[in-house]
Amino acid sequence: MPIQICPSILNANFDDLPNEIRRVEATSDFLHLDVMDGVFVPRKTFDLAQAEELVKGTSLKTDAHLMIANPDLDAPKYGEIGCFSVTFHFEAARKPQQILRDIRKTGARSSIGLKPDTDIDVISGFLADIDMILIMTVEPGAGGQSFMADMMPKVRRARELIGSDKIWLQVDGGISLETIEMARAAGADTFVAGSAVYRDPNPAQMVERLRKLATAVSI
Ligand code: DX5
Ligand code: ZN
Repeated sequence: MPIQICPSILNANFDDLPNEIRRVEATSDFLHLDVMDGVFVPRKTFDLAQAEELVKGTSLKTDAHLMIANPDLDAPKYGEIGCFSVTFHFEAARKPQQILRDIRKTGARSSIGLKPDTDIDVISGFLADIDMILIMTVEPGAGGQSFMADMMPKVRRARELIGSDKIWLQVDGGISLETIEMARAAGADTFVAGSAVYRDPNPAQMVERLRKLATAVSI
């Protein structure tokens, strides 16, 4: 499947998000929305109503990354407001398999995220309910952190587990011109990039540069 690049607006200018989002619309596959509730991680970003406004205001499909404490109740709501893909964290979930099914019922793609310390094999029992696996390559909570190269064996193991590309494999955290090839070589196909994109004077072009580098890696 083609490489997918998903800019995260976490480090964009929050005073002018509609304009910041427009800057990446022409070249990106998804808009990555980092939803933080101040409980699962210390920072707060958007709530459901704010996320809905962003989803309705962009031509891009949205990929919601929920860093929230109660995904059992709240994750499917992000499918209902029109997110194309909804990721919740395994660590916060009481019944992960049920959440995956509830997300799919809304028409969204179901996705499960794993913090760096969480073993990949926790998801092996419900692969049939998963449309995407998100492997965090930083601790969730903030943009601009260093890429954890020691997560690459986990990405490789995930690729082994899922085999085909029916399930997308996303990495999130520290993805840049320096690190994207390593993540691609390990088997990732979907890449979140926050600071690499928004610290660049030309975010749309940075998305293209990242895509080009990842596409050139043979796996
Ligand atoms: C971290 C977020 C990431 C983050 C990525 O909790 O999930 O999406 O914004 O930002 P960079 O690319 O700067 O690591
Ligand atoms: Zn994220």
